Amino acid sequence: MDHFAYRDGVLYAEDIPLPRIAEEIGTPVYVYSRATLERHAQVFRDALADIPRKHIAFAIKCNPNLGVLRVLARQGYGADVVSGGELERAIASGMAPEDIVFSGVGKTRAELALGLDRGIGQFNIEHEPEGVALAEIAARKEMTAQAVLRVNPDVDAGTHAKISTGKAENKFGVGIDVAPQIFDRLARLPGLKLRGIALHIGSQLTSLDPLEAAFVRVGRLIADLRAAGHDITHVDLGGGLGVPYKEGDNPPSPADYGAMVARVTRDWDVALMFEPGRVIAGNAGVLLTEVLWVKPGAQSDFVIVDAAMNDLARPALYDAWHDFQAVRPSGETMTASIVGPVCETGDTFARDRVIDKVAAGDLAVFRTAGAYGATMASTYNSRSLVPEVLVDGDRYIVVADRIPAGTIMAAERVPDWID
Ligand code: LLP
Repeated sequence: MDHFAYRDGVLYAEDIPLPRIAEEIGTPVYVYSRATLERHAQVFRDALADIPRKHIAFAIKCNPNLGVLRVLARQGYGADVVSGGELERAIASGMAPEDIVFSGVGKTRAELALGLDRGIGQFNIEHEPEGVALAEIAARKEMTAQAVLRVNPDVDAGTHAKISTGKAENKFGVGIDVAPQIFDRLARLPGLKLRGIALHIGSQLTSLDPLEAAFVRVGRLIADLRAAGHDITHVDLGGGLGVPYKEGDNPPSPADYGAMVARVTRDWDVALMFEPGRVIAGNAGVLLTEVLWVKPGAQSDFVIVDAAMNDLARPALYDAWHDFQAVRPSGETMTASIVGPVCETGDTFARDRVIDKVAAGDLAVFRTAGAYGATMASTYNSRSLVPEVLVDGDRYIVVADRIPAGTIMAAERVPDWID
């Protein structure tokens, strides 16, 4: 459930009519709903009610906006971060350092040191040399890094190849078969408290089966590690739960997920950690855009909107579907391809799709854009960096400014040795 709905034929975000935001802020612009973020945060937490010890770390890569993070911090959420930049954001948003988990396959030594200096709660180690480096840095600082070892359980998550992370051929984690030996060696290092296991098999998962298969493997690993004398107190189950993008999509609910986790992990006797991203933020945001032109095409008309692949990359990158809805639908439909102004054929949001009939000057939204939307934006074609707005009932605020192309250009220089 979300808080984007029509009232008297106009699409609202909570109590704000979207045409007002378009008029006052301009388009394209991302619009987030605080009530939706809070609802999703609550639903996910409620789904885990049967799990006695747990920590929820929002995967901030999907929406690192400070305003959004503050909303989730107030919900008791911590953060899953994958870079020094994300780490600083999580702290700046008001999240407690001890509620931060540092994932990521290519952390630098400087980032590991930063995590220690900031006092974060846990490092998720991706391979042995990283663990050795972390132990060295921590020992030098006379600190102990709390850490878990990320394993690659070699399961097919059944999602888009570009967002699958738990197959043996993917770059993430250490093979589950070699994990016991690596764990053994790392657990002996001073500076490191290796306290458990992490995994994350992919994103936008539409079936619980691969997750369950992976968790079962991790359960066996925990038993093996304990038999070898290790103290296993924490397991980080990652994120990945899918969301509906279009009618007919029926991903498992947070409640189904929570029930499966409770069943599979019943005897683990550990604190469980979760890293949800999309399921919290995806349907809490839309990308508001204006139709620039409607141009006849060979197969169907082109609806050319002022948002482009640089603002919302998912369709171009993963052929992802985002529902397109007119802000003031007339009730009529048309078949069209929805494209942006960028000079690439890949700048296509939809092909030959039946959509609300729109004309130049009309406003429309791409739905389910609150996760992996603004954060993946660029300034390609010297376009502005897209702004973000957070709505809260009958008020809203710009939580990220539009960064004009001129500001980006001002950060460049022409060498004086080119005459
Ligand atoms: N934990 C780790 C270690 C991750 O790598 C990810 C996502 C998550 C948690 C959160 O997964 P979620 O709950 O959001 O599925 N840009 C792509 C998605 C990339 C996901 C990367 N990792 C997209 O737009 O679909």
